[in-house]
Amino acid sequence: MYNGSKIIAGLIVFAALATFPFLYNIGKVNARPDPKIDTPIIQQLEKKECIEPEGFMKANHMQLLNKWRDMAVRDGERVYVNSKGEKYEISLQNTCLKCHSNKKEFCDKCHNYMAVKTYCWDCHLTHEEKQKT
Ligand code: HEC
Ligand code: HEC
Ligand code: HEC
Repeated sequence: MYNGSKIIAGLIVFAALATFPFLYNIGKVNARPDPKIDTPIIQQLEKKECIEPEGFMKANHMQLLNKWRDMAVRDGERVYVNSKGEKYEISLQNTCLKCHSNKKEFCDKCHNYMAVKTYCWDCHLTHEEKQKT
């Protein structure tokens, strides 16, 4: 027969070890980034929602941007209809960065943490840059 209490003790030790790195990092400088969404445009929104559900955006915004680029550049299509039937202009600058005008505090912060490099801004302007010229 199995020894139930030993198994439970083992599970507790395992759970403690598995969560330790996470608990240990709480409050550290290196803690997970918290992308800021408190921009003037987002504050004015009635519903604080992205163009697609948050989970989808978190996981798939890169694929969505690729799709947008293909739609705009290859097919000349400038309107995106989201999963709720709402229409958005296909534009990195005029749509994504209109709401997320805090690119440094939002896109960059998360990408830096994840060590993701985007080359988009070699060509595409951000609002910060646009205002300077
Ligand atoms: C070498 C320059 C260059 C780079 C780098 C670049 N793009 Fe573009 N992109 C363009 C040009 C030119 C257009 C066409 C603009 C138009 O027709 O309005 C475009 C259009 C787009 C569009 C559709 C229209 C718009 O204004 O947003 C999206 C979306 C887009 N690019 C996303 C990206 C993403 C995401 C990256 C980075 C992964 C990227 N691009 C990198 C040059 C570039
Ligand atoms: C109408 C304003 C608006 C537009 C346009 C918009 N967003 Fe968002 N976005 C938000 C809001 C508000 C949130 C936070 C709440 C939510 O996700 O529902 C968010 C969340 C996100 C997240 C998840 C952040 C996290 O905490 O994990 C990503 C990634 C994102 N947006 C990228 C984009 C990209 C890329 C575009 C353009 C293709 C875009 N957004 C267009 C308002 C917008
Ligand atoms: C919650 C964190 C988070 C936020 C916020 C976020 N990103 Fe990302 N982004 C990622 C991750 C993680 C990847 C890499 C995913 C992969 O490699 O599959 C990525 C990849 C990308 C890529 C593809 C890069 C490449 O060359 O492969 C683009 C383009 C991009 N993000 C644009 C944006 C823009 C524009 C914003 C702000 C409007 C934004 N992201 C906000 C986490 C985020």
